[in-house]
Amino acid sequence: MADPLPYYRVLRDEHPVYYVEELDTYALSRFEDIWTVLGNTDGTFVASEGTLPSAAVLERHNDGPVPDPPLHPMPFHANFDSPIYENVRRCTSAQFRPRAAAKLDDRIRTLANERLDELLPRGRFDLTQDYGGIVAATMVCDFLGLPTELAPEVLATINASTLTQPGEGVEIGNSRPGYLSYLTPIIERRRAAGADGANPIADALINFRLPDGSALSDTEAATQMLAVFIGGTETVPKITATGLWHLLAHPDQLAAVREDLTANIPVAREEIIRYSAPAQWFARTLRRPYEIHGTTMAPGQRVIALMASAARDEREYPDPDRFIWDRPIERLLSFGHGQHFCMGVHVARLEVTIMMQEFLKRVPDYRIDEMAASRPPSSFQWGWNNIPVEV
Ligand code: HEM
Repeated sequence: MADPLPYYRVLRDEHPVYYVEELDTYALSRFEDIWTVLGNTDGTFVASEGTLPSAAVLERHNDGPVPDPPLHPMPFHANFDSPIYENVRRCTSAQFRPRAAAKLDDRIRTLANERLDELLPRGRFDLTQDYGGIVAATMVCDFLGLPTELAPEVLATINASTLTQPGEGVEIGNSRPGYLSYLTPIIERRRAAGADGANPIADALINFRLPDGSALSDTEAATQMLAVFIGGTETVPKITATGLWHLLAHPDQLAAVREDLTANIPVAREEIIRYSAPAQWFARTLRRPYEIHGTTMAPGQRVIALMASAARDEREYPDPDRFIWDRPIERLLSFGHGQHFCMGVHVARLEVTIMMQEFLKRVPDYRIDEMAASRPPSSFQWGWNNIPVEV
């Protein structure tokens, strides 16, 4: 994980279906294979062991398909197959649909400029955390109904707990107590207030009924908010800051983008996401046999989709290790594909675009302190947590 790209290339070229015996898991590394597998919606690939199972889960070898978990206590909904997965997901999705997301433009622009008002006079700050981190965490507070003063704490909590050590892995489905201490009180408050829809996510979860007619407990409902809590906070700041760094490293490209920030940032943004989206992999467990490149995978075995390898697959993107701000990108796997496709995709694109535009509008010249930038080890993500910038 210190430098995964050369390994991905060997996997793509020589072992596109690489079997990891101790985890009874196949690693897929080519764009086309991952696109096909994640796009398969006939129930062959499910997330019944989670989309990010821990090493402990993967070390347990299954001798057949893994059923959906019991309804109660209900784990994170991504572990269920259709229709429960989609039905719970729908409770959290209203604010993320394209039209709802587009209305957030002003709010994001105001937040970005408030941060820049505070940060630019300092001359030096952390582009990932102090700028994008606070803006993204404030948006997450808005979405979930948390006071926005908590944004710095939310950001720090998520940063501290998504750093995983080798051998440990991550398991977002098994929420850490720190997360629920923010989320459960939201549900408690909304239940006491009558859950009339004023808080779209919490109220929809409180009013949701499972197929057996039962409702979610406070903890169960809070657990379903995890993807927004973590997904909304983690990735956008790293992509925004890394993007500004890539552009700076290619002055001709930065100059071309600066010529028309409104038109060009949305184009550059796609290349930035392809080139540097931090999540490396997501997992699925097989429920039916599936053959790929002459290997038949059995029910109960898992696939790990190496998204970051797909993003550098020369079969999909010519000269993939070069950053080219306006390269044509017809397909992208960085937001996932198929059933679990990122729910925050429109918000994420808007946040990255606006934060880059506002920064470049107000900062004529900047320098990244590369020696002080840090990319901490993790078994899951490879992204720059800290990018000190001088303006
Ligand atoms: C550029 C930034 C982002 C990237 C690259 C990204 C990427 C992804 C990916 C790859 C998945 C799918 C995981 C899988 O297949 O197992 C995902 C799921 C998800 N993302 Fe994002 N994400 C980003 C930003 C956001 C934001 C801003 C939000 C919310 C505000 C968000 C909310 C979610 C949610 C809720 C899911 C889970 C969907 C489900 O399983 O129902 N993401 N994201």
